[in-house]
Amino acid sequence: KTYRICLLPGDGIGPEVVASAAEVLCALPLAFEFSQAEIGFGAFQKLGTPLPQETLDAIRAIDAALFGAVTTPPNIEGYFSPVVRMRQTLDLYTNLRPIKSIPHPSSREGIDILIVRENSEGLYIGSERMEENGERAVTERIITRRGSERILRKAFELARAGGRQKVHVVHKANVLRQTCGLFRAVALEVARDFPDIEMKEMLVDTCAMELVRAPQQFELIVTTNLFGDILSDEACMLVGGLGVAASGNIGADAAVFEPVHGSAPTLASTGQANPLAAILAAAMLLEHIGEAVQAQRVRAAAEACMAAGEVTADMGGTLSTEEATQAVIHNLKD
Ligand code: NAI
Ligand code: MG
Repeated sequence: KTYRICLLPGDGIGPEVVASAAEVLCALPLAFEFSQAEIGFGAFQKLGTPLPQETLDAIRAIDAALFGAVTTPPNIEGYFSPVVRMRQTLDLYTNLRPIKSIPHPSSREGIDILIVRENSEGLYIGSERMEENGERAVTERIITRRGSERILRKAFELARAGGRQKVHVVHKANVLRQTCGLFRAVALEVARDFPDIEMKEMLVDTCAMELVRAPQQFELIVTTNLFGDILSDEACMLVGGLGVAASGNIGADAAVFEPVHGSAPTLASTGQANPLAAILAAAMLLEHIGEAVQAQRVRAAAEACMAAGEVTADMGGTLSTEEATQAVIHNLKD
């Protein structure tokens, strides 16, 4: 089988780390057909939009996409965040963030959490307005039964598929009685279809504390959009931070994998960007297309580099982006 992958390099260090990840994919005994599409501020300057229709069509047409990062300058007329728009337009309703210990001093030990964030509704639907001549700002938080059910079902399915026995449903239903209340009620229903998996509830503020105090207690966390955004950024700092944090945005008919970091404009063109986050995003992509064995090989090779100090300066090493990429390829084991 030939897998069709669309590369979305974007701005800043995006193209550099996506090229690294593509090099690693090419070193595997798999057949890929790569396409490339425009996204971000460069696309805006060239084409007048940060997210051309052709890019959306290209992502829909293939097996999975690998996205770098975009620069989002504030206050530019006609510019919008292409990442948020892409998630909405393609209905990429699942955001996945694996939080796993790495063999590196920046990481705590014994952590293996999958954070499953609802990515299509909640507080991020962009329904905001000013009232009373700018004296009052209002935003709408939309939680639907359908939106809750599909993300909760996905979370329990991912738990089962990944051998995880416990799912933490994180909410604030004691205060947000309607919105979080609905999410919680649907969770209790969905959990009944997964008697082999234990469902636990936790309030979001407690979860924020527990992630710092005893992160090893969590196997999978599923939560609504804003809570998931914050908790996943918090959690990634337990296990190495931005240089290695990867995520996936998955819908019914499209999937986009990306490093969590941004375009790091000051690092662009210096050859010093850490490629590991993008490479680990490629490993997530492999897992998504059903190549779990190759995904594990890539992750193990990246971890071997971290353990050996064969890493870029942000992780205490001396390698360039390209050298660090070659080190991962060199460490691929059968
Ligand atoms: P950033 O993630 O680009 O950088 C934060 C810090 O981490 C900087 O010190 C940077 O040098 C460092 N860093 C990030 N990635 C690195 C890597 N691979 N290797 C080594 N060091 C790395 O976030 P920042 O500075 O807040 O934003 C820069 C631009 O990126 C902005 O225009 C922002 O809007 C955009 N951004 C885009 C995202 C995306 O495309 N998903 C996510 C976050 C920010
Ligand atoms: Mg974030």
